[in-house]
Amino acid sequence: MRIAVFDSGMGGITVLKELRKSFPQFNFLYYGDTANVPYGTKSHTQIKTLVKAASIEIKNKKVDAMVIACNTASCIALDECCEVMGETPVYSVVEAGIATITRILKKDPSKPVLVLGTKATVRSKTYSTSLKNIFDVNIPVYEQECPLLVPMIEEGWINHPIMQQTVEEYTKAYLSLSPGIAFLACTHYPWIKSAFEKALPGWQVIDSAALVVETLAENSKTFLLENKTAGNIEWLLTDQEVFSPLIELSKEI
Ligand code: DGL
Repeated sequence: MRIAVFDSGMGGITVLKELRKSFPQFNFLYYGDTANVPYGTKSHTQIKTLVKAASIEIKNKKVDAMVIACNTASCIALDECCEVMGETPVYSVVEAGIATITRILKKDPSKPVLVLGTKATVRSKTYSTSLKNIFDVNIPVYEQECPLLVPMIEEGWINHPIMQQTVEEYTKAYLSLSPGIAFLACTHYPWIKSAFEKALPGWQVIDSAALVVETLAENSKTFLLENKTAGNIEWLLTDQEVFSPLIELSKEI
C-alpha cells in the first residue's frame, strides 16, 4: 500500500509523522512543493495550477491513496486534485479538521472556535461556512490569518522568541473570549503548538492529524491485518536544493 502525502512545503511532515507512527507497514511518497512554498499568500488561480501539476505527478507515481496534508491546497483546490486523481481515494486535512471540531462542538456548541491558518485558507471561509452549515445555528467561529508563521517555520525559527511574540500578536484579540478550541488549520503549525498553548491559556489547541489516521485505518483494515513488514518513505521535493532546516528534521521520521 503506497500513500502519497502532499504539502506545499515541509509542513505536511507533521501529518506524515502521525501516519508513519500508526502505519509503519505503509510505503509513503512525500511530495513537498518546496519550489513554490508558501501557497497561502498566492492567488486562487495560482494555487489551483500548482495543485493540479502536483496531482498529475503524484497520479503518475501510481499510489493507492493521497492525503492532502495542506489546508491551503484543500480549501482552494480539492476539486482539481480529485479530478486528476480519479478513482484514487483522496483524504483531505480540511474534511478531517471539520469533523474533529464537529465532534467537540456536539458536546458543547457554546465553545468559541478559533481557526488559525494561512491567508488563502482563512479568506476561503471553508471552515466557518462548513461549521455553520453543520450546526445550522449561529455558533461562535472566528478565523485568523497568520501569514508570517509559515515562512518563519520553514526558516526553522520554531523556538525563537520572535515566534512566541508573533503568535501572541495574532491571538491577543481572542483573549477576551472564554477559552474554547484553537484549531491549527495549517499543517506547519503543529511544529509551534506550544507557542499557541502559551498564547491562549486554557484553550484546547488541536489539529486534524488524528482523524486522518482514524479514517485511513478504517479504510485499510484488511491490508493492515495481512501486512506486517516495514514500509519506507520516498521523498519528492520540487526543489531539492532549497535550504530548509525542516528537511533536516524530516530525516528523523
Ligand atoms: N502547510 C500548509 C497548510 O496547511 C501550507 C502553508 C503555505 O504553503 O502557505 O496550509
